[in-house]
Amino acid sequence: MTNKQIMLTGFRPTGRLHLGHLHGNIVNMIKYHEQYDYYFFLVDWHALFTEYQNPQNIKNNLIECAIDLIALGVNPEITHLYRQSDIIEIPELTLYFSMVTPLSWLERCPTYKEQVKELNAKDLSTLGFLSYPVLMAADILIINADIVPVGEDQLPHLELTREIARRFNSLYGEYFKEPKELLSKATRVIGTDGRKMSKSYNNAIFLSDDFETIKAKIRQMITDPERIHPTDPGHPDICNVFSFYKLYRNENITGIENRCRNGEIGCIKCKDEISKIIYDSLKDFQEKRKNLEKDMSYVYKVLEKGRDHVRTVSLKTIKEVREKIGID
Ligand code: TRP
Ligand code: SF4
Repeated sequence: MTNKQIMLTGFRPTGRLHLGHLHGNIVNMIKYHEQYDYYFFLVDWHALFTEYQNPQNIKNNLIECAIDLIALGVNPEITHLYRQSDIIEIPELTLYFSMVTPLSWLERCPTYKEQVKELNAKDLSTLGFLSYPVLMAADILIINADIVPVGEDQLPHLELTREIARRFNSLYGEYFKEPKELLSKATRVIGTDGRKMSKSYNNAIFLSDDFETIKAKIRQMITDPERIHPTDPGHPDICNVFSFYKLYRNENITGIENRCRNGEIGCIKCKDEISKIIYDSLKDFQEKRKNLEKDMSYVYKVLEKGRDHVRTVSLKTIKEVREKIGID
C-alpha cells in the first residue's frame, strides 16, 4: 500500500506526438510521476465520441502514443499506464452517473456548445457526445483520484465531476472524494506556418522526425519579411523561428538575438542551428523509441500490467457503489 496521493491524467491519443504536445502539457504531467501514485491513461473511448464515423486509426494512434510516452520517460515501474477501453468497469459507473446527472448540467457545459459548433463537419448531436463529461467523471472517480492535472479547457469538466460526486454522495451516502485540479499553464508552441502546432494543420514537428526532416520543415518557415540579405538587421521578436530559440534556449538567447539584430547571421544558418538544437534534444528519446518499436511485446505488456492493476481498483469501487445504491 502506498500513502501517496493519487494523481490521474487522461490523454487523447492522436497518434505520434509532436513538440506542441510535449511542451504543451506532457512535460508538466511527467514531472510529478515520482511524487504521486500516478495513473496515466489513454482515452480511446473519448476519441471515439468524435471519431465514431472513422474509428480505424484510434487503436494505432493509441499504441504510437503509448510508445512515445514510455520513450519520453513515463516509467511503467511506478506509473500505471493503461488504456481507457480496457477498464470495462468505467461504463458501469458512467451508467450510474448518467442517472443522477441532470441534462441541464451537460447542455450548459461550455466545451459542449463550443465543440458542436467547431467540429461541425462531424455529426456530434449524439447522446454519447453530450455525456462526454459523465464518462470523464467515471474515469476519475473509479479510482477516487485526489488530483487531476488539466489545462484550462478541461476545468468545466472537472467541476462537473465534483458536482456528480456530490450528487451521488448526497443520494446514497458519502463515498466519492472531490478531486482537485492542478492547473498547468500550457506553453503554446507555434507550428512551421506560424499557427498553433497541430497535426491537422500539417505544421507539426514530430518527436520522431530525423534531423533532415526537422531541417527541411524549419527551412520553410517565414522569418522577418523585411530581411532580404543575411547582413540586413533582423527583428527576432516578429520571427517565428525565434520562438523556437525561446523555447529551447530560454536564458541563452541574447547571443542569437544580437547576431540577428546586427545582421551577423543569415536566416538559413540561424534555422539550421535551431534545427540541430531541437534534434539533439530528441536524440535520447528517438533511440529509446526505436528500441521499443523492436520490442512491441514489452509495450503491450506495460498496458496489460496497467490494466490489471486498475481493474482491481475499479472492481472494488463498482462493488462498493452497488452496495451504496443498494442493488447488490
Ligand atoms: N477530456 C480530456 C481531454 O480532452 C481527456 C480526459 C478524459 C481526461 N478523461 C479524463 C483528462 C480524466 C483527465 C482526467 O483532454
Ligand atoms: Fe529569425 Fe534567425 Fe532570421 Fe533573425 S536570423 S529573422 S531570428 S531566422
